Amino acid sequence: MKRVGFLTSGGDCQSLNATMRGVAKTLYQTYGGDVEIYGILEGYKGLIYGNYRLLESRDFSGILTEGGTIIGTSRQPFKYMRDPDENGLDKVEAMKSNYKKWNLDCLVILGGNGTHKTANLLREEGCNVVTLPKTIDNDIWGTDMTFGFQSAVNIATNAIDCIHTTAASHGRVFIVEVMGHKVGWLTLHAGIAGGADIILLPEIPYDIDSVVEALDKRTKEGKRFSILAVAEGAISKEDAALSKKELKQKRKKNPFPSISYQVGQEIQERTGQEVRITVPGHTQRGGEPSPYDRVISSRLGAAAARLIIKEQYGYMVGLRDGEVVPVPLEEVAGKLKVVDPKSTIIQEAKGLGICFGD
Ligand code: F6P
Repeated sequence: MKRVGFLTSGGDCQSLNATMRGVAKTLYQTYGGDVEIYGILEGYKGLIYGNYRLLESRDFSGILTEGGTIIGTSRQPFKYMRDPDENGLDKVEAMKSNYKKWNLDCLVILGGNGTHKTANLLREEGCNVVTLPKTIDNDIWGTDMTFGFQSAVNIATNAIDCIHTTAASHGRVFIVEVMGHKVGWLTLHAGIAGGADIILLPEIPYDIDSVVEALDKRTKEGKRFSILAVAEGAISKEDAALSKKELKQKRKKNPFPSISYQVGQEIQERTGQEVRITVPGHTQRGGEPSPYDRVISSRLGAAAARLIIKEQYGYMVGLRDGEVVPVPLEEVAGKLKVVDPKSTIIQEAKGLGICFGD
């Protein structure tokens, strides 16, 4: 009997169920009834505190199109993994002990960057682990694409599309704030797809003068409205020059709920144009996975199952140049895939006339 534990950790995304289904279907095809799948509940929390539900073949039926995760998720920050919990429990030892108690052959862990660091820690501690790259942020090193990203691009683009008509009617400046604290992939793709005039990313600190200049240019050209796609983590050049400590102190005194409101107020004051802010927020992680995500989730899931069948552990299954490839976990953990300001996509976007505020 093969025993495999499934675990989804960190912020959810649309294609988690589709990916687990891909793993499970391939395992059932190979092992028939000789495989037991432990659905570890609410991410690493379930592994620490021993909460699971045995999943059966029927649990994976009808979930290809279902967003969220059938086994729940939670955030368990990697930086506190080595700290005992409030009752003095050693979390890493507890996870290892449950892994042994349940007689697992391996863990299939679906998650983002923090999740991968803990998965690598479990690997170092002797657990068999195969991971899958989940996040709407597309910031996992070692894979060209994460599942969830394209579904979120669709939603964020749709938000910009909807704003277009009302912005045009009223002749206003609109800011659509897109998810992504550390990286701007989602904002970049949704911004280009939605025809944003200005895109502000964490990787390219902006100068408000350049933003105002771009808006004034549009006004002079007779354009009655403008749209900005602004990442949650967009940062001004001034703030980017501060130390972490200085920035933290400055942000404590910041009266704005998020960066878009600050940029919005500055634009309104400087240009006299009416500004409105839209924050699609967690809608970007919700709803059903896009067809593209369903395809890559099924492929990545099937490939993860093949690794388990061959007992090749310690890998993340990634996508490179359209091919599914195993990437050693120790190479993935702790690295972030960011937007390179010098990359061709940025140059092409600039060629289209999009302003990045730099
Ligand atoms: O990591 C995915 C992500 O959606 C980020 O883009 C976003 O900033 C964050 O999660 C929001 O996290 P939470 O759901 O904990 O508010």
